[in-house]
Amino acid sequence: MTDRYSDLDRRREKATLGGGQSRIDRQHDRGKLTARERITVLLDEDSFVEMGQLVRHQFTDFGLADNRPYGDGVVTGYGTVHGRLVYVYAQDFTVFGGSLGRAHASKIVQLLDLALQNGAPVIGLSDSGGARIQEGVVSLGGYADIFLKNTLLSGVVPQISAIMGPCAGGAVYSPAITDLTFMVEGTSYMFVTGPDVVHSVTQEEVTAEDLGGAAMHTERSGVVHAAYPNDVVCLEAIRTVLSYLPQNCEEQPEIHTSYQPPAGGAGDLDTLIPENPNKPYDMHDVIHLLVDRETFFPVHDQFARNLICGFARIGGHAIGIVANQPAHLAGVLDIDASVKGARFVRLCDAFNVPLVTLEDVPGFLPGTDQEWNGIIRHGAKLLYAFCEATVPKLTVITRKAYGGAYDVMSSKHIRGDMNYAWPSAEIAVMGAKGAVRILHRAALQSADDADALEEEFSRDYRARFANPYVAAEHGYIDEVIHPRETRDRIITGLQVLRNKVLNNPRKKHGNIPL
Ligand code: HXC
Repeated sequence: MTDRYSDLDRRREKATLGGGQSRIDRQHDRGKLTARERITVLLDEDSFVEMGQLVRHQFTDFGLADNRPYGDGVVTGYGTVHGRLVYVYAQDFTVFGGSLGRAHASKIVQLLDLALQNGAPVIGLSDSGGARIQEGVVSLGGYADIFLKNTLLSGVVPQISAIMGPCAGGAVYSPAITDLTFMVEGTSYMFVTGPDVVHSVTQEEVTAEDLGGAAMHTERSGVVHAAYPNDVVCLEAIRTVLSYLPQNCEEQPEIHTSYQPPAGGAGDLDTLIPENPNKPYDMHDVIHLLVDRETFFPVHDQFARNLICGFARIGGHAIGIVANQPAHLAGVLDIDASVKGARFVRLCDAFNVPLVTLEDVPGFLPGTDQEWNGIIRHGAKLLYAFCEATVPKLTVITRKAYGGAYDVMSSKHIRGDMNYAWPSAEIAVMGAKGAVRILHRAALQSADDADALEEEFSRDYRARFANPYVAAEHGYIDEVIHPRETRDRIITGLQVLRNKVLNNPRKKHGNIPL
């Protein structure tokens, strides 16, 4: 028996060495952790249980018969994060460059099935040369099997991807289907076709970093939700973001009973809004004065910065914040902001995370660029997402709420549960200048001093419309509150809405304007 035990130990040891020490060293030299090291950082100490460690491929072409490493280039299993079950897979670049063959794909598919059946989040760590070339179409089939499972799991359990090395070709579509995708700066890239193919097709010269590096995807394409300086910080971010999410769509996020109040006093909110309505302020300051200390976790921080999205806690309750950012493009809603917001609202709604909307929006961005690129159908995504969301929805209008953007930003009319406005709120069809020029065109054209008359009309318009009280009279605003009262109102709102039940009509699925 002793021989058999030591035989097992030998096999296990071989499996844990992946592609061997020299390839592990190469991985380290590049500033990357190995698949197993990454899992160790990600999970609670000693909680990982590996599955399929001794799986090997069954292929013989291209010399594969003599090269059958244990694990087949992916480490899969389960463990805990903050004491809660998660399933995890990490591609092992030291084995066939982490490339995906049949056995590798089957291990991931099995894991996704377990996550679905047991209602627990899945985390995928990508570091792979893509489809295993020697296995041909079988590896393409393996990818398709994973895409299908990712789609079936979508909205049932949280799925989080981290790109920690190459991720090219169709392989990018698995992370793209998942809920959140993170990258590591400098060591990871994602693209459908690499720089060589790009050059041969379009003659463009571009580096891998410029084509699909972390900066490009977080700032320009919006494919990636956040990037981190190294593997460890990225993995810690995954641990953090999981704490805001429940295990699955049937559960609610955990409430933390101990929390720190915001840094700064509630009274600081009273002085945040500038007297001049055209002067910007940073909505991050409002967020940090409202939420429990150091709990704000930004999502898509560098993309469409005119809209802030992120998770936070307030009075221990997990929330998703959607906030216009007056400090960037005056907080206007454009195509990118609409798409970003819509995706985040749907993520929160799918996993029962209440939405807190902070509103200061002058409207949708005018212009040919926006119209020709479809602001109508993209803006409709945000509208649709807020309309269909059934989680508790709390809205605070801090300043501007103009035009269609007023309706879209979780207004009372689209099932906002608690809608508050600060005394600085301006709720109207449009700003004074635009309105006066339409309403009084004839008078202004024939006036001797058109500027003075326009100013007089504007003053009158502002007095009548640029305030929260008309909306409050109609019941579209539940309460006009002092800024310093906001945190308490939101906490109470979250408490009384904790058992909210609201169901949309029965349907196969809605048809969000994609
Ligand atoms: C088999 C692969 C591989 C692959 C890398 N390797 N990619 N083996 N299939 N796709 C192996 C290499 O042979 C090498 O083996 C080891 O992994 C490390 O690769 P290196 O090239 O030495 O590493 P590096 O210089 O860091 O370059 C990494 C790389 C490069 C940029 C990823 O390997 C590369 O370009 N690979 C091909 C990428 C690709 O075109 N994949 C197909 C994409 S299309 P040894 O034994 O020497 O260590 C696709 C379609 C999916 O994936 C469609 C889904 C629908």
